[in-house]
Amino acid sequence: MQIIRSIKQMQAWSLRQRRAGKTIGLVPTMGALHEGHLSLVRASKKRADVTVVSIFVNPTQFSPKEDLKKYPRPFRRDCALCHAANVDVIFAPTVKEMYPGGYRTAGRNSEFRSQKSEAGSAFSTYVDELAIAQVLEGASRPNFFRGVCTVVAKLFNCVQPDLAFFGQKDAQQLAVIRRMTRDLNFPIRIIACPIVREPDGLAMSSRNVYLSPAERRDALALKRSLDWAMQEIEGGERRVESLRESMKKMIENSPAARVDYIAIVRRDTFTPLGTVQKSKTLIALAVSIGKTRLIDNAVV
Ligand code: PAJ
Repeated sequence: MQIIRSIKQMQAWSLRQRRAGKTIGLVPTMGALHEGHLSLVRASKKRADVTVVSIFVNPTQFSPKEDLKKYPRPFRRDCALCHAANVDVIFAPTVKEMYPGGYRTAGRNSEFRSQKSEAGSAFSTYVDELAIAQVLEGASRPNFFRGVCTVVAKLFNCVQPDLAFFGQKDAQQLAVIRRMTRDLNFPIRIIACPIVREPDGLAMSSRNVYLSPAERRDALALKRSLDWAMQEIEGGERRVESLRESMKKMIENSPAARVDYIAIVRRDTFTPLGTVQKSKTLIALAVSIGKTRLIDNAVV
């Protein structure tokens, strides 16, 4: 397994693979790898000749209030996990490699962020998806999807994969990336992989480590409310409002839980639905447990 830190070297490696007729699978991550990430790696190993895992904690998708500094970065452990999973390359560029000269934030006042460089040559080009990215996660976290789209577009150009693997865990991210890939004509197939959960149902996430034991128990309410809603739908319930209200009550039974949103939407466009429609519907929710914000979803 190779660890590549420079974009030039990454592109040169990919070019060699392509010339040798090999297909490249890319698994973009921010590290702190768990079984969820590894399931994407296994999917890539199955479908592509060579697999690249990118590990990059992307500063442009964090708001100033979010956890960029304390986001876990167990790089050695991540390398060991990738090695054990027979990954061919870890692409782990530094922030300076991806955003040389710092970067302008994408917000209204376009602040310049860098410790050392000058603002003049800073990174200032962003990719913006204007439909799916505006609601739910996009509404709660301004600039989040702009940062995600931008860095994923950059990673696509660095690695030039044939296939790229994303988790259904971040359902809206997946839908936004699919749209970006189509709209900007990236010759890349986006492959969705199912949500991997802990044995008790909690969706795996790098942020679960922030939960105290009591919060960890309260966090089970997300999956429990989704399971309940799926059962109701199975039993014939189609009224979106009544499902949402009952789910909210179930979750906020736990004192530490605060619902950010519970949404019942079309799974491809994320537009709200008046009634549940089998096969087109996604239930997505975001809940803060204490200071930790968790998301989960279920496809009807
Ligand atoms: P990160 O949160 O590290 O997630 C990387 C990939 O792993 C995403 O596609 C995510 O959906 C998937 N994933 C995470 N937890 C999962 C789970 N429990 N089951 C299945 N898949 C899971 O998402 C990002 O990083 C970043 O936004 C990124 C796309 C890398 C851009 O910076």
